[in-house]
Amino acid sequence: MATRMKILRTIADLYAWRSAQKEAHRPIALVPTMGALHEGHLSLIRRAKQEADAILVSIFVNPIQFGPKEDLDKYPRDFEGDCKKAESAGASAVFAPTPEEMYPEGFQTHVSVGPLSECLCGKSRPTHFGGVCTVVLKLFLASGCDIALFGQKDYQQYQVITRMVKDLHVPVKLISCPIVREADGLALSSRNTYLTADARKAALSLPRALDAVADAWSKGERNLKVLLQPVGDAIAKAGGRLDYAEIRTAEGLKEFGEKADCDAVLAAAAVFDGVRLIDNRLLRF
Ligand code: PAF
Repeated sequence: MATRMKILRTIADLYAWRSAQKEAHRPIALVPTMGALHEGHLSLIRRAKQEADAILVSIFVNPIQFGPKEDLDKYPRDFEGDCKKAESAGASAVFAPTPEEMYPEGFQTHVSVGPLSECLCGKSRPTHFGGVCTVVLKLFLASGCDIALFGQKDYQQYQVITRMVKDLHVPVKLISCPIVREADGLALSSRNTYLTADARKAALSLPRALDAVADAWSKGERNLKVLLQPVGDAIAKAGGRLDYAEIRTAEGLKEFGEKADCDAVLAAAAVFDGVRLIDNRLLRF
């Protein structure tokens, strides 16, 4: 008989749940989220079920990964809807703490990952990855998870967390899962709900511009300037503003010289009517 999904609000609740899983020798998989769950998150939960017995979904809009002018206050929240979706995808428990539970009075320890956090999104969001790594490490430690799953859409985030796990000897296996897209190609994101109908149309220029680069790559083009030059124009033509489009090494996000010479990632961020979206493509050499 299926047991009902547990809702855990405090670190003490989480420890009690974790102890029960450990006693029953049930490996724990963690799917960290900020809620507003969509098919992308649900695909992580379903994949987690193939990897472990106890599936924990964290729902926490982490204040320390937002910059002062970013969308912390308006970030979409739908706790009841999220719980229904998480349960139907197979979650065993949801951990949904308050900010005070995660960052009580006196909190002052932060994780900082070096240059990997400073390029790409790190340029316009300088405190973002420190906030992500701090909360992710706290979730790893408090949940005692064996496995954690992340979406490939946040490609840099996965690289930064992979570095942190390696550098700090964190005994958690990381799994990156494919990007889930709308039928027309827009990558699913909780922030898509901010888009007006016009901005939604314009936002399609982002995946389309990346497809065009991937197409040129597949035909053998390796010159970065030639590959990237059309991206900004395509997005501007649609009414958006390119934040960055770069091609870097797929592992470690290192810069290339004039030409790419190994597996690469094409990563980009663009703003449509005030909504900042990211997307990427893996480019196999
Ligand atoms: O990718 C996200 O939703 C967040 O950055 C994460 C990993 C849940 C940390 O708050």
